[in-house]
Amino acid sequence: MSAERVRIFDTTLRDGEQSPGCSMNLDEKVRLARKLQSLGVDIIEAGFPIASDGDFAAVKAVAAECRNVTVAALCRTSEQDVLRAAEALRAAAHPRIHTFVATSDIHLEYKLKKTRAEVIGMTRKAIRLARDFAEEIEFSAEDATRSDVGYLCEVFAAVVEEGATILNVPDTVGYTLPNEFSELIQTVRRRVVGERVDITISVHCHNDLGLAVANSLAAVAAGARQIECTINGIGERAGNASLEEVVMAMNVRADSLPFETRIDTRQIYSTSQLLSRVIGFGVQPNKAIVGRNAFAHEAGIHQHGVISNPLCYEIMTPESVGVPANELVLGKHSGRHALALRYEGLGYALDARELEAAYRSFTELADRKKCIYDQDLISLIAAESTFSAAA
Ligand code: KIV
Ligand code: ZN
Repeated sequence: MSAERVRIFDTTLRDGEQSPGCSMNLDEKVRLARKLQSLGVDIIEAGFPIASDGDFAAVKAVAAECRNVTVAALCRTSEQDVLRAAEALRAAAHPRIHTFVATSDIHLEYKLKKTRAEVIGMTRKAIRLARDFAEEIEFSAEDATRSDVGYLCEVFAAVVEEGATILNVPDTVGYTLPNEFSELIQTVRRRVVGERVDITISVHCHNDLGLAVANSLAAVAAGARQIECTINGIGERAGNASLEEVVMAMNVRADSLPFETRIDTRQIYSTSQLLSRVIGFGVQPNKAIVGRNAFAHEAGIHQHGVISNPLCYEIMTPESVGVPANELVLGKHSGRHALALRYEGLGYALDARELEAAYRSFTELADRKKCIYDQDLISLIAAESTFSAAA
């Protein structure tokens, strides 16, 4: 049985760009959009055209440039927002208007100051209008996870009646838990989607409790078929679900998550690096998949295992995500195997006695120095008169 497709909706250029310090200029957005297209994302959300002239120009430029991917533009459920998004997408090969409104009582009362009925009314109108400009309409119920489920389903049913075919369930404030979110997705599926195969449930999870990826995967297992995510997990506050993590989780754990994406995983690392260069900051060293240490092994036992067979400590190869080479970091926890291997790489074939002496000097140095570089190893050898066999 072939695996079911999950669509990857990348919002690095929209939600990602909204996070502090992550703003990008037009050229940078177009460069990143080209890379996202090549990476194989299905949808690029290029901006929120009513928000600024810069966002409008970015959506327009990405739509003109990226012809092999769907380009989405975000808008609220007001006439001027929808018209601005439609205008920005005019030249897109595959346009998608993505309209949203909050559905939780707290947002209705304090932010929108509207009744539930008013929100449904304005949402219906917005979808109807959007349908004049694009075939594909996505609707997001902002703060869905803190909304009354009955009302949420009522809003979704109304937008489906008006012609929206992608129903996005955002965990806007990163509040939900995987089991809860799974239940919510199943409820929307049962009460709203039913037998309709043309309707896709999408999820958009924020990472305030560090659960964005877990929640997205739970949703997919419960029937969602689009994940909204960002490169390096950037996004509002604690960020969005990270694209590299959701994709590799489905890839590595296909036994339990039998879903496929169009992502060329070997381009993951270079995409992450490009984003880091553009926004001027990288990911934490221990970040899954793309962090500097994600494939680095320091502890001696681990290094020995990885040298003997990478499967001992690696659940995916660095090459599978485009990380150049396995990095064995030499530090105070490293063992003789890793040291011998590094010396070999440097052109020194040490016999057992020499290795033992080198290892003693190395551990003494490692107690004083955090990272040991190749030059340090060469100096250790040079300082040791016993190393006559240096190649
Ligand atoms: O977090 C959120 O609810 C959003 C929506 C606009 C999809 O970003
Ligand atoms: Zn968001």
